[in-house]
Amino acid sequence: MQLTKEEEKMLDGEYGNAIKKSMEILTALGDIFGAEKLIKVGSVQIAGVSYHNLGDAGLEFLDELAKDGRVRVITTLNPAGMDLDNWRNLGISEEFAKKQKLVIEAFRKMGIIVSCTCTPYLIGNLPIYGEHIAWAESSAVTFANSVIGAMTNREGGPSALAAAFVGKTPMYGLHLEENRIPDIHVEVNTELKKFSDWGALGYCIGKNASNKIPYITGIKEAGLEELKSFCASVVTYGSKPLFYIKGITPGSEKHKIPKEKITVTKKDIKKAYDEINDDIDEIEFVCLGCPHASIKEISQIAELLKDKKISSNVEFWVCTSKTVKQLSDIRGYTKIIEVAGGKFACDTCMAVAPLKGRFKSVATTSAKGCFYSRGHNNMMTKLGSLEECINAAVTGKWS
Ligand code: F3S
Repeated sequence: MQLTKEEEKMLDGEYGNAIKKSMEILTALGDIFGAEKLIKVGSVQIAGVSYHNLGDAGLEFLDELAKDGRVRVITTLNPAGMDLDNWRNLGISEEFAKKQKLVIEAFRKMGIIVSCTCTPYLIGNLPIYGEHIAWAESSAVTFANSVIGAMTNREGGPSALAAAFVGKTPMYGLHLEENRIPDIHVEVNTELKKFSDWGALGYCIGKNASNKIPYITGIKEAGLEELKSFCASVVTYGSKPLFYIKGITPGSEKHKIPKEKITVTKKDIKKAYDEINDDIDEIEFVCLGCPHASIKEISQIAELLKDKKISSNVEFWVCTSKTVKQLSDIRGYTKIIEVAGGKFACDTCMAVAPLKGRFKSVATTSAKGCFYSRGHNNMMTKLGSLEECINAAVTGKWS
């Protein structure tokens, strides 16, 4: 890879240890993937924030970098393992909280915005069309590439952090136009009636378009919430973190429809539900906001919970960012949800909080949430509409 004089100096350690280590990561990646050079990035999203995933080795790595590492571009954080303020309310242990706070302190020292959300685009880290960025977190990467039209690979925690310190990333993969051409046509031949159908659709496409870029036709409309849910699901279950929806997402107008074709029918959507859902009646945990809830989703949750009481056998979380929760406070949604017995889980989520062994079953609107709850936390899963999840929260049963 061709380096500028300044980049050479960075690699030689003239700008300190964190930048030297970062350049080692970036040049190694660049060499592996055949990048010609580094390019400037407009922003970075860091994943690998939960102490649950990092452990002591990860914390030590961050502490070392925090000694002299300072980010050069807007950098935000993925969810942590707990609500940074109300962790006790979520049943997090003192021991875990102590370690998680040390992780956050290391990031804060580096100049990173302690945002802890997988929807950074809802709280001000919003790139523009065509902008190069270096984001980790698969759903956010897919949203940035597909819905915004920004350009990013699916970074890992260390490579995203390295890009933040250097302000650059190797130019390969989805930073190159020639790698952003769709290579499979997906015709959606069924109506998406409920919100969770978008997660089921992501499941169908992800499984069948494994490691390909889908060009999707047959969808007439999609809102932000539907798109973010679809982004989370399609990449979790297998496709590349980029898709086009004809007439809806940017860039769909400039690409030809690929020859290879698959069709998604009503039967496929039903099969997706059958495969995601376990055969259970009792629900112990209801978790909404995966990806982190928007203010519109929270307003819908509040509307459905008005004058209802969540079953004492059910733990109910709304996962979102602190910023969106503040809007919810102002609008009065928080009070409605809390009076009903629900909890806000800001800064965290069902995949990265230490939940293993706490609940046997979970109901959610998120297909990605089901994947991680089953795979990481051994829970039985139910994917359903917001109405079905609220009903499960109130009755403790899936019906
Ligand atoms: Fe976000 Fe966690 Fe879901 S990171 S996409 S809320 S699994």
